[in-house]
Amino acid sequence: MNLRHEAGSPDQYGVVGHPVKHSWSPFIHGMFAKAAAQNLVYRMFDIIPEDFRRETLRLLTGGVRGLNVTLPHKQAAAELVNELTPRASRAQAVNTIAFFEDSTLLLGDNTDGIGLISDLERNQQIELADRRVLILGAGGAARGVVGPLLDREVRSLTVANRTPFKARKIAAEFSDMGQIDGCTFSEIEGPPFDLIINATSASLQGVMPEVPDGLVNEETACYDMAYGRGQTPFTRWAGALHARKVCKGWGMLVEQAAESFLLWRGIRPSTQPVLTALAQND
Ligand code: ATR
Repeated sequence: MNLRHEAGSPDQYGVVGHPVKHSWSPFIHGMFAKAAAQNLVYRMFDIIPEDFRRETLRLLTGGVRGLNVTLPHKQAAAELVNELTPRASRAQAVNTIAFFEDSTLLLGDNTDGIGLISDLERNQQIELADRRVLILGAGGAARGVVGPLLDREVRSLTVANRTPFKARKIAAEFSDMGQIDGCTFSEIEGPPFDLIINATSASLQGVMPEVPDGLVNEETACYDMAYGRGQTPFTRWAGALHARKVCKGWGMLVEQAAESFLLWRGIRPSTQPVLTALAQND
């Protein structure tokens, strides 16, 4: 496929992941482009981890101007680019790549954190300051949101992961920013949290991470970064425990996409029409 830009042809963007067929990013960026009158196309590229570096560089040198990066490539993307924005550098994870052909700059950014915070605060009216927050998962998705959550002066942040050393590593990297600790699921300690965020990819496999009892009460908000039609194992778990509020990651997805669009096109599109369209679809 020749993706080189020709006069009048649309600019090329896309998302790389594995799997990627569940992605709603083409729909979202399609709506943004239409609303902002931008001549672009946005495609999905399913690339396995072993091919990530070679195939992503092939896309970018072949004419693709920007890519979103989704699981499991966010940390590999941070190593691929030749410059990181401060927030991507802090996270050591990249969900947005911009290629500036003139200067051959390959810039890696991370819009996951600002996307999550926008959704929590603006769309879901969930307070963060002085709250006890638990993140399940310590992969690329979790890395993107730890810094922005600590910036909001949460009282404490616990990162729990199936593989505990990754959670402890994140806690050590971010300990200068606030009260953070890392552990495995069985070590999570009560009392119930104010906010629990599922940043594992377990929902994609149709399973709920094996967490102890007593994490949720009627005051707890539960947020699954995963999205898709109907319930996820995490939202079902939270609902059964009578959590105060249970949300999926549609809003984060749309808000992080708007920030990627801003980096690529210099325009931050309005997210409300897309949120409304997706809510009708849920
Ligand atoms: P992402 O970009 O979505 O974070 P990732 O970097 O591949 O993708 O990370 C996936 C995360 O989901 C990891 O925290 C992973 O746990 P491990 O570090 O132990 O692999 C977590 N995860 C995946 N499947 C899981 C499952 N079935 N139960 C619990 N955690 C799971």
